[in-house]
Amino acid sequence: MAYPYVSDREVRILSKHFGDPTARTLTGALANGRYSAFKKAVDMGRDAVIDQVKTSGLRGRGGAGFPTGVKWSFMPKDSGKPHYLCCNADESEPGTFKDRELIRWDPHQLIEGCLIAAYAIGAEHAYIYCRGEFFEVSSILAQAVEEAYAKGYIGKDIQGTGVDIDVTVHIGAGAYICGEETALMNSLEGRRGQPRVKPPFPAAVGLFGMPTTINNVETLAAVPHIVENGGDWYRQWGTEKSPGTKLFCVSGHVNRPGNYELPLGFPMKELIEDVCGGVRDGHELKAVIPGGSSVPILDAAECESCSLDYEGVVSSGSMLGCASVIVMDETTDIVKQVYRMAYFYAHESCGQCTPCREGTAWVTKILKRILDGRGTEEDLDTLVDVTTKMTGTTICVLSDSVAAPVQSSITKFRDDYLALIRRGERVGVA
Ligand SMILES: Cc1cc2nc3c(=O)[nH]c(=O)nc-3n(C[C@H](O)[C@H](O)[C@H](O)COP(=O)(O)O)c2cc1C
Ligand code: SF4
Repeated sequence: MAYPYVSDREVRILSKHFGDPTARTLTGALANGRYSAFKKAVDMGRDAVIDQVKTSGLRGRGGAGFPTGVKWSFMPKDSGKPHYLCCNADESEPGTFKDRELIRWDPHQLIEGCLIAAYAIGAEHAYIYCRGEFFEVSSILAQAVEEAYAKGYIGKDIQGTGVDIDVTVHIGAGAYICGEETALMNSLEGRRGQPRVKPPFPAAVGLFGMPTTINNVETLAAVPHIVENGGDWYRQWGTEKSPGTKLFCVSGHVNRPGNYELPLGFPMKELIEDVCGGVRDGHELKAVIPGGSSVPILDAAECESCSLDYEGVVSSGSMLGCASVIVMDETTDIVKQVYRMAYFYAHESCGQCTPCREGTAWVTKILKRILDGRGTEEDLDTLVDVTTKMTGTTICVLSDSVAAPVQSSITKFRDDYLALIRRGERVGVA
């Protein structure tokens, strides 16, 4: 199979059928074993499913890495209220392109994961919230849901188990902030997509004010495999604290960018050199953003020994986030790169919190001033000062997401800033 690149270093569990269009039909999905884990889950019972997911050590793939089984166990038992499952398919973090591929190639894998999760938390309705721009992907998903309903794999008395679960595909309007879990719930309810103050957390007061669990697409896609094979099976890959496999979205200056499913703890150097065929055209590595645009930038020396698991990336000075690895060679002007990110966050800020609304806008203006050849060294102090005040002071972490690349780039790539400031000439930025 030639999905665009496949490496022999991969462990393809979730991505096994990438590149095979027959896998997205119900017939193809059933031939691939889809929907058998749901029946097994019901035979096991809710608590045993949650225990297996806890045993597996699966951690949320939406960015924060929170243990999934533990999150599910926060849902109340016998609350007497409707419970909901939300699947977060809003995937808008710059550099991230895994969830759309999981849906595009194997939608029934995700649907089965949603059904098992919904069953485990006592929900009779699962909502899959798709990013507004995912026209093709959301229609593939909607078609898969329709097929599964028609054959009794979703809906009333699923596969004769006596369990009723509905699945609704909801398409957002294309706002990055609707990927934040409570903004997503507001958006689903027909309100403005703005994050809510927490607590209360969704397990207590979530969608429509009811107990709700929200998980990322990749998290839920892993669940049928864990139920089918057991939590210990999943632990054969990865590290003690970061078990399992993870889809790494590699973009930027490598010879073979793409999605690669690898055991957590895989060395970053081997990802770039062996899996992705090295930095493009013999250029040198300058920097890597390892987890999507909201995490600190690593310089080439920090990448040398970086282990791609939640703890490993932290000890190298950044965060794994959603494992969106953006590789930059020595031709990259880091200031331009950071400016593009700041511009994105300023555009996507929902505007509720003053440090975020004002901070993202001012940081973007200062960076533009430096790129316009009108910057001063004092601007760098101002950027650090402003971004420090934007950290930990807002309703959600979008604000912190700007601080991380700005501060890390000023610390590690100060020379890029100083060169622009000293040159004093306008630099174009796309
Ligand atoms: C600004 C912002 C954007 C986010 N965007 C996404 C997203 O597109 N997809 C996603 O799964 N999680 C996103 N998250 C994280 C979610 O809030 C939530 O933690 C996640 O869906 C939980 O799923 P998990 O436990 O399976 O990781 C975002 C968070 C923030 C603060
Ligand atoms: S931090 Fe920014 S995006 Fe998040 S709630 Fe506040 S204003 Fe909105």
